[in-house]
Amino acid sequence: MQINNKPKLIIDTDPGHDDALAILMTLLSDQFEVLAITTVAGNATIEKVTRNAQAILDLIGSPVPIFSGFDEPLKRKLVTAVVHGESGMAGFDTSSTDCRLTQNAPEKMVELVTANPEEITILALGPLSNVARAIQLDSQFSSKVKQLVIMGGAIDVPGNKNRVAEFNFFVDPEAADDVFQAEVQKVLVPLDVCNTVILQVDDFRKVQNERLQSILIPMMEHFFGGLTSDEGTTGILVYDALAAYYLLNPHAFTLKAMDLVIETQGEHTFGMSVAEKRPHKVGKTNADVVVQIDDSQFRQDFFNILSRKTMTSLPDAAD
Ligand code: RIB
Ligand code: CA
Repeated sequence: MQINNKPKLIIDTDPGHDDALAILMTLLSDQFEVLAITTVAGNATIEKVTRNAQAILDLIGSPVPIFSGFDEPLKRKLVTAVVHGESGMAGFDTSSTDCRLTQNAPEKMVELVTANPEEITILALGPLSNVARAIQLDSQFSSKVKQLVIMGGAIDVPGNKNRVAEFNFFVDPEAADDVFQAEVQKVLVPLDVCNTVILQVDDFRKVQNERLQSILIPMMEHFFGGLTSDEGTTGILVYDALAAYYLLNPHAFTLKAMDLVIETQGEHTFGMSVAEKRPHKVGKTNADVVVQIDDSQFRQDFFNILSRKTMTSLPDAAD
């Protein structure tokens, strides 16, 4: 039996156009043994994000199991995104995709890290509701997780969901607060660096895989429209794909250790990620925050990986 010595990964996600790019790049890179995809309500309802995740896996013939999480944040009502459209992934019709809601994502995270202590990285691409619930379920969870790579937060830039908060932390600030108080080793990819990598729809014509390209182009046209109209961007921000790229090529990133707290009480500031910047107060840090990325290296690797042959030959475009 071939021993698989690839590093182990769980992807926690709320697809989401940029989540889809992150999942496709990670799976097609074949650099990780992806043990599970866990879904979390965020960009859209748990039903929609779970269906979207299944449709992405079906697109490339991936057998990775999907476990859905809860349909609400820890203590608040769910506020979904606007930029991804009603389905959560406008431009790719996933309405005919069958998917099952297992509602056990936190339990499955605990089961997997317990069976593989200090071996599993969790890539968290949505609100941190599932990760926070896993920490609540098992007091040893943090010590069993190898690393948590999180897309979220805004340190020295405005928020994208209120004046100060990034969407993932805005949706479930209590979960983000619990995670940032936990002892687990964290890498954070915040809006500060995500805002510096701006793609255009035509860039996706570099994807050599014609069938994948034929699906990505309409998806990116919708995502471009949502971002420019709702968030005033000048192009496509691929947030989650940058967090996934950290796993594939950490040398393309510059990190800075920071002491972060998450605001949960403020009427206008809930979800804000607040860094300790007072020189006389800087001491214990709780996250390694990405402050720079090699944009051109990312673009080169991103489109090369998306051009790789999928795990099964996709149906003819004529289908
Ligand atoms: O703020 C960007 C984050 O919110 C990304 O994860 C995007 O998918 C949305 O979930
Ligand atoms: Ca996401």
